Amino acid sequence: MGKHILVVGSINLDLVVSTNRIPQVGETIKGNNFQTFFGGKGANQAVGVARLGHPVRMIGRVGDDEFGHRLRRALDQAGVQAEAVRVTPRTPSGVALITVESQGRNSIVVVSGANGKLTPRDIERKLALVRSAGLILTQLEAPLETVDYLITAAARSGVPLILDPAPAQKLPSDLLKKVRWLTPNETEASILCGASSGAVTPENARSVAESLLKKGPENVAIKLGSRGVYWATDHARALIPAFKVRAVDSTAAGDAFNAGLAVSLMRGATPLEAVRFASAVAALSVTRAGAQPSMPTAREVSRFLKVMEKGGNNT
Ligand code: ATP
Ligand code: RIB
Repeated sequence: MGKHILVVGSINLDLVVSTNRIPQVGETIKGNNFQTFFGGKGANQAVGVARLGHPVRMIGRVGDDEFGHRLRRALDQAGVQAEAVRVTPRTPSGVALITVESQGRNSIVVVSGANGKLTPRDIERKLALVRSAGLILTQLEAPLETVDYLITAAARSGVPLILDPAPAQKLPSDLLKKVRWLTPNETEASILCGASSGAVTPENARSVAESLLKKGPENVAIKLGSRGVYWATDHARALIPAFKVRAVDSTAAGDAFNAGLAVSLMRGATPLEAVRFASAVAALSVTRAGAQPSMPTAREVSRFLKVMEKGGNNT
């Protein structure tokens, strides 16, 4: 199976309301249903990797509240090696307030809690996990100085790293130059390029990808929701359309994509093969409710890809 994938990032409890539509500012609407799920971009990606059958370790923080103990147990139960997930005294766990509308699209507010206390020192203590990893996955729900420290440590050790620049924020070129894969969604890509570039579409994805590549990452995969993914490196590019599925909840589709990308690259796939595999993992996740419960197994993905190759659909 080879080296482990290391995930450094957030762990949240998701408080999810389903509604017919996302409310406007100042508006009160009735919800249809309320559920809690285990989430957090880091934890979702770690669970995604574990479901796909690859060894995965995680560095992160939970609070010393009831949520924190449940979140850590959920990682263990999913097969994520979470000894480096610390319980933070006198601090609440991260939570995400999520509204999912009838087409499966969402809006999310994250309150960092313990994730905001993940420090460079936490990474320094676990440098052996960084150096021995085959690949690293990280996002931006932990403090930027911690992510920066991790990216520099990974680059020094020659370990490839996939950065999911979510939630959206501008990033220095210094940091982006050390990233093997940058995987923004439409909003994140647009903010990284400077707000003047406007919304990203399949039509302008090529020029957005080019301007992102100029900032330094080796590969860019722009996640375009139900319109697919635009992948680019300095000598090749392609739009990979999304698989056609019946969307129930797109929460963590991006995390499922990154987990699939990491596992596939670790298995020796080409970038294009890895993006296609990741798109299948993400498409399956969209057909299920919740973040971590929506991550598919390797067997489910290979069955899905066989059906799709025969021209079937999953709608
Ligand atoms: P999140 O922040 O909720 O994890 P994201 O905004 O980062 O998600 P999306 O662009 O919504 O990511 O989705 C990631 C990938 O998942 C897409 O590029 C696509 O491959 C797949 N996907 C998303 N929505 C759908 C859909 N409705 N049908 C099929 N595939 C989808
Ligand atoms: O990417 C989806 C995740 O974003 C949710 O699980 C939520 O916790 C937020 O971190």
